[in-house]
Parts: sequence; structure tokens; C-alpha cells
Amino acid sequence: MADQPLVLGIETSCDETGVGIVHGTTLLADAVASSVDEHARFGGVVPEVASRAHLEAMVPTIDRALQEAGVAAKDLDGIAVTAGPGLAGALLVGVSAAKTYAYALGKPLYGVNHLASHICVDQLEHGPLPEPTMALLVSGGHSSLLLSSDITSDVRPMGATIDDAAGEAFDKIARVLNLGFPGGPVIDRYAREGDPEAIAFPRGLTGPRDPAYDFSFSGLKTAVARWIEARRAAGEEVPVRDVAASFQEAVVDVLTRKAVRACKDEGVDHLMIGGGVAANSRLRALAQERCEQAGIRLRVPRPKLCTDNGAMVAALGAEMVARNRAASDWDLSADSSLPVTDPHVPGRDHDHVHEVSKENLYP
Ligand code: KG4
Ligand code: ZN
Repeated sequence: MADQPLVLGIETSCDETGVGIVHGTTLLADAVASSVDEHARFGGVVPEVASRAHLEAMVPTIDRALQEAGVAAKDLDGIAVTAGPGLAGALLVGVSAAKTYAYALGKPLYGVNHLASHICVDQLEHGPLPEPTMALLVSGGHSSLLLSSDITSDVRPMGATIDDAAGEAFDKIARVLNLGFPGGPVIDRYAREGDPEAIAFPRGLTGPRDPAYDFSFSGLKTAVARWIEARRAAGEEVPVRDVAASFQEAVVDVLTRKAVRACKDEGVDHLMIGGGVAANSRLRALAQERCEQAGIRLRVPRPKLCTDNGAMVAALGAEMVARNRAASDWDLSADSSLPVTDPHVPGRDHDHVHEVSKENLYP
């Protein structure tokens, strides 16, 4: 245990200011300050509001994480930060903070990929990731199937959404049903009391000639909205629970079907599900059922680790240190469209780390 890296991770790609601290694959602290309430009245995340909230929350959240973990900043082995993808202005706050702390403390800096972090976080819950692992990442900003044989260096996209992200569809349908934002948790709750087979909503991209691993939720979203409008126009009451359950079933049916198929086609026997939508109770249950039938081991982190957080960034940073990956350069910049195939942003010259004064400039 003693030689495991102690890493602090900073996540600011969307509306959560997350700071996590890990010791290898052990979680020591997971401090999150969310600006979700400030976005609620707009029905979605407002980038400028998010950036400002990150700026205000950053130092207090870092202090809280250090306190929670009971570690001194000078004892860290590295600082990791989400370099992308995400909202440019929001990412910039995290990257600037990470650089400042890393430089002041004389620690290596690791700019890492948000999507690879969502996968790597599972190590904190279920131990080292099997290699290879298939990952289904579903959140408000992304829906992808990724295959990784080494989370620090090899992430291969199998498929992705061609329009809306899965979480976005939950948020939009919740808005149509006047259930507030974010929509996922509330639809999940209503769906528990509804009939998933009450309404046959379309399953996007599941035709024989459709791409096997890509997703589409915009047709479903329109179908649900039209169905609700027709009820309202006829002066009929909308059966919210049945709509929620039937919509949710259409989403999770497609997600799990394609994920299991990708595992089978690639001969991969481990599937992990991450991202905010992985908190969905029906997705977890159906994935478990289908994986069992197919002889696939399912790994889903607990909901708090599925939504955006700093621990996932720290987890991937620790893996970068453990596998001797090159640290990032001091001119690391936020990249709002960092490709999923880049688990981190390696520096041109790893030695720069040693040029930094090892003096502790931060108490
Ligand atoms: O990963 P995340 O926290 O942020 C992004 O990177 O987007 O995911 C947030 C998304 C939102 O769209 C939210 O509605 C959805 O995850 N979500 C859920 C559930 N909890 C959160 N969707 C379905 N069921 C849930 N229980
Ligand atoms: Zn995310």
C-alpha cells in the first residue's frame, strides 16, 4: 500500500466542482460542490453560470477534500485534472487551478480525459479494471460504448449517440412532463410506479441495417413529446408514471442490448456502466439481467461515483502515476473536444517535473 500513488483530482467539465483524493485504488475523499440549483430554472446547464460557480467553489472544495482525506498537500504524488471534453470555460477553471497547485507544490500535473475517468472510477469500488473492459458511458453530455485494454493508453470508441445523449433525453422528457431538472432521477422515481409496457415507444437505431453500436434518442424524444401533446390536445390526463416507465424502458432496452452485443462480438466478458444515467435503477437491473444471461460480469459503481466527481479524475491520475505515464506540460490547456482516444494529455518532456522547486509553497 505504501508505494501506491496519492493523487488529488479536479473535475470541472460541467456543473459539478469535484475534488477527490485517492491512494492507488482507495478512495480517501470525494468533495463535490454542485451548481445544479442555479441552472434548474433554465432547464439545462448555463456555461457562464457554471464557470463562475467553479471559480467560487474551487479553493474551498480542495481544502475540504484535503481535510476529509486527512492528508497534507505536500504529500501528494500528483495532481490530475479533467482537460476535456466538456464546457470550455468550466474546464479552464479546473485546469488553471490544477496547474497553480501543481506548480506551487512541485508536483507532476496530469491532464486527463473525462470519459476515461468515468470508466477508471470503478477501480475505487470494484478493484483493478479487467483488461479488456467494455464500457457503456451514459450521461447528460455523452452516450458511448468504449473498449479499453488499458485505461491509461488505449480507449477505442465502438459507438456513440448520433444526436442526443441518454441523459439529455431524460432531461427533455422531464421538462415536457413538467417534472423539473435534472430529469433522470425524477423519471426514475415515477417509472417505478408505472407500466413499462403501457406505451410502445420506438427503439432508435435497432433495425437490421442500422449501425450496431450507435445510439439515437431524438426520435424517441419526439415520439414521447407527440404522444403527450396528443393527450393534452384531447383534454385527457397524461399518465405520467406510465409515460416515464415506457420512455425509460425504451432507453435502457437499447442501451443494454447494444452493450451486451458489443461484448459478445468482441469476446469481452466484463461490462462497466458509468456516467450519471448509470444511477438509473431500471438500467442497473436490466443490465444485470442481460449480462447474467450472456455470461458477462457487470460492474457499475455506486451512483455518487457515476455522476461527475473529482474522485474519478484522481483515480485515473493515480493510474497514470502507477503506470509511469508522462506528466502534462505546464502549458496544458483545456480542450472542450478532447478525443475519447486520448486518455490523457502527455507532455512533450516528462523531465519538466524535476525542474519545479520541491519546496512546499502551500501549507
Ligand atoms: O455524468 P453526469 O453527472 O453529468 C454529465 O457529464 O452529463 O450526468 C448527468 C445526467 C443528467 O442528464 C441526469 O438527468 C442523468 O444523468 N441522471 C439520470 C439519473 N440520475 C442522473 N438519468 C436516469 N436515471 C437516473 N436515476
Ligand atoms: Zn460526465
